[in-house]
Amino acid sequence: MSAPLPDPAPRALRLSLAFEGGLALPETGVIAVLHPRAGEDISPLPQDRVRVVTPHAPDHAAFSAQGYACTRDQGPPVADTVPDAAAADPAAAVLVCLPRNREEARDLVARAAAMAAHTGGPVILDGQKTDGIEALLRALRDRVALSEPLSKGHGKIAWFAATDAAALADWRAAQRAVTDESGRRFVTQPGIFSSDGADPGSALLLASLPAGLKGRAVDLGAGWGWLSTGLLAQSPKISELHLVESDARALACARENVADPRAVFHWADATHPLPGLSADLIVSNPPFHQGRAGQPGLGQAFLRAAAAMLAPSGQLWLVANRHLPYEATLAQAFTTHREVAAEAGFKVLLAERPRRATAPQRARRAT
Ligand SMILES: C[S@@+](CC[C@H](N)C(=O)[O-])C[C@H]1O[C@@H](n2cnc3c(N)ncnc32)[C@H](O)[C@@H]1O
Repeated sequence: MSAPLPDPAPRALRLSLAFEGGLALPETGVIAVLHPRAGEDISPLPQDRVRVVTPHAPDHAAFSAQGYACTRDQGPPVADTVPDAAAADPAAAVLVCLPRNREEARDLVARAAAMAAHTGGPVILDGQKTDGIEALLRALRDRVALSEPLSKGHGKIAWFAATDAAALADWRAAQRAVTDESGRRFVTQPGIFSSDGADPGSALLLASLPAGLKGRAVDLGAGWGWLSTGLLAQSPKISELHLVESDARALACARENVADPRAVFHWADATHPLPGLSADLIVSNPPFHQGRAGQPGLGQAFLRAAAAMLAPSGQLWLVANRHLPYEATLAQAFTTHREVAAEAGFKVLLAERPRRATAPQRARRAT
């Protein structure tokens, strides 16, 4: 499981304030909590009625470990055959944990209103100022009967009765289509990484990869599959490509985008090696943000997991922003590493001959 956020939103403080300020929950029925992050405290809600809905595998694992019922959120339908599980699931009340992306935030609020419409139950909005809660509440005021917002911990909480699901129907997000420079078409969703098109760092990594790569490959943090698509297209000798991605919405897009029988999809936390998966090649454009905060530790955990998954002769190819401090981690986890390309603020690094962690090291990492 990934480390909890360094700055978890103080949701418990604001929920308690809201209950003191007149927020009332229906006496029975599910309370859906949309997109809370690991490390956040939602304990003022009755745990036996809460259903956490999240696209993020580490958050799903963290709340499940605390005993919460959890469901995976794949976002807006990617294809007609994929049901929009969260919106179809009615709830007596819904708490929206505000994400920073405006389109994603509006979609969550509209979905919450649709989920609670059958009871007219409260839709509760909670978020940090830095994530745009004030602008969201301003936009909502014209459309629903919003409570007076309450402020605490650099954020706000407010609520409204979901009496009219149609009032916010135009805030629902749809999948979007993007075309890359070579004319290939992909589907993406708001809120996932680089949803407007291919990431320039991934493009540099793909262009730096040599011809003739072969064997079992892994894309750690595969997103909606742009890098994987290119890797498979230029490497006919790759026998399998495992796409490991923690965001279920991105992975749902990747399933649509990577139409190659060699692709295998995993909704998983790449900060830990996938059990039983031994790779000849790993490519990665590791994330360095978790929630609101920049965290090189997240990318460093990817590198250690890659070393643990690679065969002794395996290679890790990664791209990163130039300022990210990955070399020391590579020196610990691999016998050799070097920079093979640098352009437009990015560097491509190649690491070879993974060192095997000793048992005490493995034990330390697991804690
Ligand atoms: C910089 S993006 C690269 C995406 C993709 N490879 C590309 O080229 O477009 C990093 C990806 O890692 C995913 N990610 C973040 N934390 C993760 C974790 N703990 N486990 C697996 N994937 C994670 C993000 O959702 C994002 O899609």
